[in-house]
Amino acid sequence: MLSARSLFQEIFDNDEAFRLFCSVAAGGETQGGWENARIAALVPAEEQAMAPRIARHGADEDKHGRIFNALMRKRGLEPVEVPPDTDYTMLLERNGIGLPHDKLRREETLTVRDLVTYLAHSRVTEQRASEQMRLLCRYFGEHPDVGRAVRMISADEDNHLAYCHEELLRLSAAGYGPLIRRTLRETALAEIAVYRDVSVAVMTRMGRILGWSRPKLAALTGGIHAAYAFERAGGLRRMVSLRMPAPEMRDALGGPATAAPEFA
Ligand SMILES: [Fe+2]
Ligand SMILES: [Fe+2]
Repeated sequence: MLSARSLFQEIFDNDEAFRLFCSVAAGGETQGGWENARIAALVPAEEQAMAPRIARHGADEDKHGRIFNALMRKRGLEPVEVPPDTDYTMLLERNGIGLPHDKLRREETLTVRDLVTYLAHSRVTEQRASEQMRLLCRYFGEHPDVGRAVRMISADEDNHLAYCHEELLRLSAAGYGPLIRRTLRETALAEIAVYRDVSVAVMTRMGRILGWSRPKLAALTGGIHAAYAFERAGGLRRMVSLRMPAPEMRDALGGPATAAPEFA
């Protein structure tokens, strides 16, 4: 009864829950879009080749934000303000993960070490995004309303992840290996805790909206804590390892962003 599928179904079937789900998702995507656009504008001269790819990454995330907003509008729903305890992107930044927003607001060129921080942050958060979208795809990939959107975002997140692997391996070969390994580990450790806290916050709010019983909510938050314990114990490896993508996935952000005219 407590399968991920039935949970998503419950959320999708309720306007208020669906609106919270899409608003939280759209907020994170839009924030990611802004961060990437700023980083693209501040790339140092020796890494200029990365700039259009980072800009494309940002354009994709912006597009995802618009898609989640469009899914709400399609149902006649207005976005709600993202509650601070569910704001994954903001909480990561507050935990010192990724590049600080203060730094991104300045007009100061970044260093290659800053780009390592950016890529490590993306390597970890895109892993999360890719896994979550694959899950959504498994349950809703053929859904008449959200199927196309879910499939498109999922393919994009896979591309982002492949791009991070490729760039980090290149910088690793250029001598940044120890910094990359250290940064990946720190980022992943912080991310799994933020993800756990945000998941509990989202579930608690969903429980309130959907009128879940205390035991049901307890079972769900218990599951979230168990998943965290698993990630802490050994699941981190999937977030910090680096592997060259398959040939068809290389330079995944090399071209222009694919449009989503029906959403944008
Ligand atoms: Fe995204
Ligand atoms: Fe992404």
